[in-house]
Amino acid sequence: METPQSNPAQKPVSASSLIENEWSVTEVVRRAMAQTEDPRLRTVMAALVKHLHDFLREVRPTDEEFEMGLEFIAALGHATHATNNEVVLAADVLGLSTLVTTMNNGTSEGRTPGALLGPFYRAHAPHYACGDCVVQDDAPGLPLFVSGTVRGTDGAPIPGAVVEVWQASPVGLYDNQDPKQPDRNLRGLFHTHADGGYYFRTVRPAGYPVPTGGPVGKLLAAQNRHPYRPAHIHFIVAAPGYRTLVTQVFADDSDILETDVTFGVHRQLVGAFRLVEAGRSPWGDLPAPFYTMAFDFALEPGEQTFPKPPID
Ligand code: BEZ
Ligand code: FE
Repeated sequence: METPQSNPAQKPVSASSLIENEWSVTEVVRRAMAQTEDPRLRTVMAALVKHLHDFLREVRPTDEEFEMGLEFIAALGHATHATNNEVVLAADVLGLSTLVTTMNNGTSEGRTPGALLGPFYRAHAPHYACGDCVVQDDAPGLPLFVSGTVRGTDGAPIPGAVVEVWQASPVGLYDNQDPKQPDRNLRGLFHTHADGGYYFRTVRPAGYPVPTGGPVGKLLAAQNRHPYRPAHIHFIVAAPGYRTLVTQVFADDSDILETDVTFGVHRQLVGAFRLVEAGRSPWGDLPAPFYTMAFDFALEPGEQTFPKPPID
């Protein structure tokens, strides 16, 4: 007799690989997969089967419910195409993506937390000098002056670090979603100065909904959840000898910080968006009103990598 780990009731499971009860199914499947040569695949699949079987024993779906669950997963695939990845979206709204990002981006030693790359990152952002403006159109919206310093976790400023940014417009659309915006509007790549400083002008972004036309949208509606992400700016901060940071900074005056549909708002990623109602801008000599937002980044030593853009 063997007792699989996921058998808290200690139901007997025989050495035979014929099915005898609901516990023996798990053990028989585990044995069937035990010859997997790749050790990581063997470990991952054993844990997946263990947890999925325990999940089914916990919720005890009817045949119809099981069918519905499988249809939901198939619908994720059917709704996935060149411009929409419904499978990734499902992982996002179930908190899976944020959990993995959080596990893989420890903040010990003072590293800035990571956040999702998201589906709107594109290669070939325009290169700008610090102080430049990433807004290429004259759509209405309050100017936003963003600045900060990139340092190592040892506190030393990092000159020449890449600071790449992208964001949604004041109506909550990325350039690739909005035919009215010029190509690569609100995207830009900067390099820090000798003191590790960066600064640029943009326009205040708005929050936006994730796509709701597919099965994920139906799930959110069934769960009485709104589909919005709070206003944010995406950043990739990278330098040779440092682990690349992919993150987002959120507007502190958003009223949905705690209900981000993708659970992406880390406490340390809330930026102070300050409305300035009188005077002139810190650079560029614009009259108020405008916003400022200062945010510093800390990189840990490691490998500089660049993420693969999910879209063209
Ligand atoms: C984003 O941050 O751009 C994003 C992340 C997950 C789902 C949708 C959008
Ligand atoms: Fe985004």
